[in-house]
Amino acid sequence: MTHPILDHIRPYLPELTAIRQDIHAHPELGLEEHRTADLVARQLEAWGIEVHRGVGKTGVVGVLRNGSGPAIGLRADMDALPIEEQTNLPYSSRNAGVMHACGHDGHTTMLLGAARYLAETRNFSGTVNFIFQPGEEGVGGALAMLADELFERFPCEAIFGMHNAPGMPLGKFGISPGNGMAAGAFFDITITGRGAHGARPEESIDPVLVASALASALQSIVSRNISPSDTAVLSITRLLVGDAYNVIPETGLLGGTVRTMKRETMALIEANMRRLATSIAAGFGAEAVVDFRLIFAPLVNDAAQTKVIADAAAGLVGEADTNRNQPPIMASEDFAFMMEKVPGAYINLGNGAESSPVHNHHYNFNDAAIPYGVSLYAAVVESKLAK
Ligand code: NI
Repeated sequence: MTHPILDHIRPYLPELTAIRQDIHAHPELGLEEHRTADLVARQLEAWGIEVHRGVGKTGVVGVLRNGSGPAIGLRADMDALPIEEQTNLPYSSRNAGVMHACGHDGHTTMLLGAARYLAETRNFSGTVNFIFQPGEEGVGGALAMLADELFERFPCEAIFGMHNAPGMPLGKFGISPGNGMAAGAFFDITITGRGAHGARPEESIDPVLVASALASALQSIVSRNISPSDTAVLSITRLLVGDAYNVIPETGLLGGTVRTMKRETMALIEANMRRLATSIAAGFGAEAVVDFRLIFAPLVNDAAQTKVIADAAAGLVGEADTNRNQPPIMASEDFAFMMEKVPGAYINLGNGAESSPVHNHHYNFNDAAIPYGVSLYAAVVESKLAK
């Protein structure tokens, strides 16, 4: 890749790599990113960028103004996962049981690199808000920033984000037009029956039987209630009933996840799940309480902003290495809550064909991807806020 932005950032790529590996060695769980947020804030301040700490608990926003013009937001996530790292890297996690297994160390570093480049070159007219989000991994970091009036305090006409993609070759970008990622919910269904001796079933209301019947019945929702042209996943991933061979337990728990491409489909599944759980339990004389929590909104790429970021990517790596029609996936991303408020686009960046998958204890962000991510953020600003 040869490009004027790359020529400018090349001298500080070693420093960015050192920052990435330092964040990797000191991973922090969602909404506990104190060290990472401090590192981010200090770097931004060192480059003369106005810094706001504590936006959404551990979130940080940097503001860079240059002349008059619209304001846009660039967003990166900062949190790690509760995974024991097994990479044996020299800069492996020093925090037992916590690991940057989704590359958010790289995302944070790339946004820092773009902030430095833009602060030095100022080849744009308007305002750039650098949004360093905490707690992306299902703990509500985006909502925490929105509750702290992110977009009232730092108005943005458009927002952009990026995630590394294991398996995608280095130097390639890909984006799904429209619906890119699914909404995600977690659910817990608590069943209460009546416990008894395993040899006296007539004295019990058996929650094992209720849980089994319910587990089967819930699979009818996607197959019978959802249109074949729509898309949904309902996975029961937890079934916790009983401890002993000779005891019919009193209670049981059924838990799992639901993924849909639309909020309406999610609402339909929730309603049907509540009806089935309540009525099946009642049919056995038991009770069921459903706790259904929307964790991720569906991620919808705005057409105009998708063109902006895809054009910027094509300008860097060429049209052949920019996939503008990546198929949507049923995984989720909580930047989607911000994208429901402000039109935005979320692009994938190749982490290399050999990369382990994310959320795996062998995963590592590919430092060779840093120049691509930094350059893409910078190119988006220079195109959206062209002088
Ligand atoms: Ni991630």
